[in-house]
Amino acid sequence: MRGLDELLAEGVSGRRVLVRADLNVPFVKDSPGTIADDGRIRAVLPTITALRDAGASVIVMSHLGRPKGEPDPKYTLAPVATRFAELLGSPVTFAGDTVGPSAQDAVAALTPGGVVLLENLRFNVGETSKDDAVRGAFADQLAAFGDVYVDDAFGAVHRKHASVYDVASRLPHYAGGLVLREVEVLKRLTEDPATPYVVILGGSKVSDKLAVIEALLGKADKLLIGGGMCFTFLKAQGHEVGASLLQEEMLDTCRDLLARAGDRIVLPTDVVVADKFAGDAQTDTVAATEIPAGWLGLDIGPASVALFTEALSGAKTVFWNGPMGVFELAPFANGTRGVAEAITKVDGFTVVGGGDSAAAVRALGIDEAAFGHISTGGGASLEYLEGKSLPGLEALEAA
Ligand code: 3PG
Ligand code: MG
Repeated sequence: MRGLDELLAEGVSGRRVLVRADLNVPFVKDSPGTIADDGRIRAVLPTITALRDAGASVIVMSHLGRPKGEPDPKYTLAPVATRFAELLGSPVTFAGDTVGPSAQDAVAALTPGGVVLLENLRFNVGETSKDDAVRGAFADQLAAFGDVYVDDAFGAVHRKHASVYDVASRLPHYAGGLVLREVEVLKRLTEDPATPYVVILGGSKVSDKLAVIEALLGKADKLLIGGGMCFTFLKAQGHEVGASLLQEEMLDTCRDLLARAGDRIVLPTDVVVADKFAGDAQTDTVAATEIPAGWLGLDIGPASVALFTEALSGAKTVFWNGPMGVFELAPFANGTRGVAEAITKVDGFTVVGGGDSAAAVRALGIDEAAFGHISTGGGASLEYLEGKSLPGLEALEAA
């Protein structure tokens, strides 16, 4: 895989560089357009700045959310363009379409050092189509904008999409600095990680994490499980979970995992329960084995935080993906905060994997520098750890 440094060494002055970024940032709930966490914009700045400084004309493209192949104002990248320009400290021309007249004019007017951001790629059906020809036709139009292609959208490398997969085969292609760094970290987690290796998983669904649990069961010394998914495990152990999130269809799978993992899977011992899913709910902290009927668990409790902290002590490698509770609501943020803080104290290589957990770290005001690495890709890093081949990386590796 050729990287940004090689491209810079070749020289990009006067060349048009088409950069795929993952600017899919979360917006504040019920307030589309208000960016809740700009970590993904910040993460790609070094690549854009290096290209500009070297005299390239830069065309940046990204998706945002999951619009259905046609323009949808709810998912416009316009607010991202504004923030991007602020962070970059120089103007960004925002094109009001992906490959239409606005994009064509903006690209034609580009001068060395200039930056254009195209509108949300998923406003075009060609971006995500399963039909190679439909994707290919869109990729042709995108590729026409650039002389070379740089993929720095680590969060999207697991998607076989036009801008991630097909454009790469149409232009000389390079991995951006962010993609290179993310892959290096994932290699370190997969190939011979220093032990003890402790993995912490949260989030709502067991089904989303099943493949990674299977893959890590053979590698990790301990798997700590919190978040909404812990209730399916608790139920599989025979405990009542009240009105908590439950994936009935995963119970047998969880029983099997627990039987195979023995004491390597660690579950919460206490839970913060609420009478409703709301920040002003009535709450209580109860033993994980005694969740009252009608109540729902929305966070792990303090004893669980202590148990997880103990399990982390002495760890040499830590990977964490998924919040421990509904951290967006203050009464249910302590589990995620406590575990995040425990990870910052580990004397080893610590990695925060993914969108939500990374956003949680920043939203809770925890020092980002205290972690070894904070990934910009949730799905992408999980699929890498599952051992899957990622289309975006495959495309970059191809000659
Ligand atoms: C993400 O947020 O995980 C990436 O930006 C990919 O988005 P997607 O899951 O909608 O493809
Ligand atoms: Mg995602």
